[in-house]
Amino acid sequence: MRTQVGIVGAGPSGLLLSHLLHLAGIDSVVLESRSREYVEDRVRAGLLEGGSVDTLTEAGVADRLHREGLVHHGIELRFDGEGHRIPLTDLTGRVVTIYGQQEVVKDLIAARLAAGTRRGNPPVLFEVADVAVHDVTSAAPRITFTHEGRAQTLECDFIGGCDGFHGVCRPAIPDLRIYERVYPFAWLGILSRSRPVSEELIYARHEEGFALATMRSSTISRLYLQCAPDEDLALWPDSRIWEALHRRLGRGAELEEGEIFQKGVTPMRSYVCETMRHGRLFLAGDAAHIVPPTGAKGMNLAIADIRVLARGLERFYAGGDETLLDRYAEICLRRIWKGQRFSWWMTSMLHRFADDDPFEHRVQVAELAYVSSSRAAMTTLAENYVGLPFEV
Ligand code: FAD
Ligand code: PHB
Repeated sequence: MRTQVGIVGAGPSGLLLSHLLHLAGIDSVVLESRSREYVEDRVRAGLLEGGSVDTLTEAGVADRLHREGLVHHGIELRFDGEGHRIPLTDLTGRVVTIYGQQEVVKDLIAARLAAGTRRGNPPVLFEVADVAVHDVTSAAPRITFTHEGRAQTLECDFIGGCDGFHGVCRPAIPDLRIYERVYPFAWLGILSRSRPVSEELIYARHEEGFALATMRSSTISRLYLQCAPDEDLALWPDSRIWEALHRRLGRGAELEEGEIFQKGVTPMRSYVCETMRHGRLFLAGDAAHIVPPTGAKGMNLAIADIRVLARGLERFYAGGDETLLDRYAEICLRRIWKGQRFSWWMTSMLHRFADDDPFEHRVQVAELAYVSSSRAAMTTLAENYVGLPFEV
């Protein structure tokens, strides 16, 4: 099989790259190890920056997002039992939108399958195995894989390494430049059939640990609790989860209990692989960087990477101009490090650390009090939360 751009991974990064390339008249094939059902049901991110919504809208894949997404104009910070609103839109003129990552993935898969490819290749191949990338420093890289029991080769001009944190593309690059921080806690996340606690998201700092109340619709709540990194879900029957949420979200938060139909533990890490390109292999999204979810930046950073990569490939195919591809890592990393800083800061301010001491506790509360009372500090939070402007 031959295509112009071979893409590993059908998450938001790989699918958006394939779709933007298609709009620019460039052929691609996406190889995904999981089934279509699995990637469409995988519960993950939920919050889109204004710029991410604009990107999906310009790409023509946001009709359902505009119908079903929940537009938010503020968030609440809770500490010492009191809520404090950060009026995002008043401070920045921008909004954020709640729309599940799996819904973005469904919309992109539908668009790719409907449009097809010029060479008659399947646009996305699900349930492939043994994926490996070869000759990436040559002008003719290849991806080998197995599909339906048959060994196959995808020949291409470029490879998009969009295979997430545990993929095969990053480990194929020698001498990686990596920066990392692992946090001493994780998030226990649930989906529940219950009315959201409030119209806006609540980020709560509590002695016992962080809690976040978010949502997927007017009848589905998404709730998170700080827990141990190796937390055993068996020790968290529904009653224990609700009791902890009631305590941590505190007075004034009208928490309705409903049927919990999804539970999972997410470890927290900050990670940047600055080597985002090796020859003709480009890493994008979680394959190159991970943020703790407190700042809601992961999927948004992935979308920003893809904007740069798609535009760079478009310029290459339009007339051999490689300057944007050569600047890919440099441009992406400026935004990635700002996203890292913001996510680390939100995480540090809102969580209980294992080595927490009373001094640190007082400083955290003072910082929250400052952020929720100073217009300058609130604006700093708000402009990072709604998303910094794109360079490309
Ligand atoms: P992925 O979504 O990980 O996709 C990679 C794909 O590659 C997967 O489909 C995988 O199956 C496939 N793959 C892996 N290995 C191979 C292989 N060898 N061969 C073929 N395919 C392979 N981000 C936000 O912006 N806002 C939020 O509110 C937010 N909240 C989050 C909450 C939680 C609990 C979690 C876990 C994450 C959250 N994130 C959030 C982060 C966000 O989910 C990720 O940043 C996003 O999924 C990155 O997309 P991606 O396409 O780069 O990677
Ligand atoms: C979510 O809706 O899942 C969500 C929202 C904001 C975050 C993290 C997760 O910071």
